[in-house]
Amino acid sequence: MDRDELLARAKAAALRAYAPYSRFRVGAAVVIETSDGPRVVTGANVENASYGLTLCAERAALAAACALASADRPASSHDRLATAPTITQVAIACIDAPDDAPPNERMPCGACRQWFAELAPQATFFVDGVAADLTLADLLPQPFQLSGKPPTTRAE
Ligand code: THU
Repeated sequence: MDRDELLARAKAAALRAYAPYSRFRVGAAVVIETSDGPRVVTGANVENASYGLTLCAERAALAAACALASADRPASSHDRLATAPTITQVAIACIDAPDDAPPNERMPCGACRQWFAELAPQATFFVDGVAADLTLADLLPQPFQLSGKPPTTRAE
């Protein structure tokens, strides 16, 4: 999908944020390969009075992508519980960042980068307000990953 089109989906998703504490709305849109072709799933940040239990937009979108990938496999599949989504593109938009905000006010947090390492290692990343398209290696060099069999993807 086109960068601008996916970023528009991320911005639209950000309008659904629950962010009463920071008032900083973030949206994420990911493209996932399914048996019906590419699908877009989105997420927005969900804050909590504890602050620390806040869920970022990116992880909300990745959780939705996981659920879709699992639902896309037969219920009888013995490996359904280990099915990871095949995510090709990710777009992130911080719609309350000022127009002149530097990249560090727009980039995904460290926790979300670790989730990307698990669930979207091959994706191209589009960050609103950041000109360059990014890879996981740009976002998180040397991620923590367990050795052994990785999660299956839909295509396997
Ligand atoms: N936030 C995200 O949704 N994604 C990130 O990668 C960084 C921060 C949210 C969390 C919180 O609701 C708000 O932005 C301010 O930190």
